[in-house]
Amino acid sequence: MQTITDPDVARDWVFQQRAAGKTVGLVPTMGALHDGHLSLVQTSRKQCDATIATIFINPTQFAPTEDLDKYPRTLKEDCERLAGESVDAVFVPETKAMYTDHFSTYVDPPQVAHSLEGVCRPEHFRGVATIVLKLFQIAPATHAFFGQKDYQQLQVIRAMVRDLNVGIQIVAGETIREPDGLAMSSRNRYLSVDDRRRALLISRSLQLATDLYHTGEKRAAVLQDAMQQHLLGRPADRSEATPLSVDKIDYAVVVDAETLQEIDTINQTAVALIATMVGNTRLIDNRLIVV
Ligand code: PAF
Repeated sequence: MQTITDPDVARDWVFQQRAAGKTVGLVPTMGALHDGHLSLVQTSRKQCDATIATIFINPTQFAPTEDLDKYPRTLKEDCERLAGESVDAVFVPETKAMYTDHFSTYVDPPQVAHSLEGVCRPEHFRGVATIVLKLFQIAPATHAFFGQKDYQQLQVIRAMVRDLNVGIQIVAGETIREPDGLAMSSRNRYLSVDDRRRALLISRSLQLATDLYHTGEKRAAVLQDAMQQHLLGRPADRSEATPLSVDKIDYAVVVDAETLQEIDTINQTAVALIATMVGNTRLIDNRLIVV
């Protein structure tokens, strides 16, 4: 596996692959790799002739109050894991190579960025859209792979690619879960034993919403209320002797799967999305509700 730190070298590497007639898969990450990332890499390896991963903790998508400084940095292990998956190249730039002196051009993210995460983390998608477009310029691959766990991010990137005519095919990878249902996330390593137990309420609430839908409940508000009650340790069947609860719900909603706009009744594919605080850790997860 070739390790590249210079954006110009990364571009040359991708151009060489494409000049040789190869399809190229790009897997952007912020490191702290888990099986969710590796599953994206494996999909890229299956679908494309060459694969380049990137590891860059992008400062512009973190607010000053967020966890940029404590975000896990595990570069050596990450590179070993990527090499173990036979990735062809990894692009690991320094911050100053990506944000040079006097950097001042940002992407104004699309409409779908304005709700949910866009309300809780107002600058987040501006930073994500900017760095992702930069990575597409630096590594002009044929395909780019993003996890469905960051569902709104995926929709933001799809809309940006459509609106700005970026010639890259976006491929979504399914959310990879722990055996008990917790969605894999680089932030799971922050969870204490107690947090880890309580974090399970998220995937269980999403399951509850989809189960309700499949037993005939089509009202989004009813599904949302069921998820919120479950997250707060008030299960309808009072099954838990000592109810567990998350610490704060940022949102627990059922919305249109493409626009992320509110809906009354589920008549087309919808998505249930949750963002909560468990201890000091902010976790997000989602489930599609396919009609
Ligand atoms: O999903 C992530 O890890 C990041 O938001 C991304 C897409 C690599 C941009 O920094």
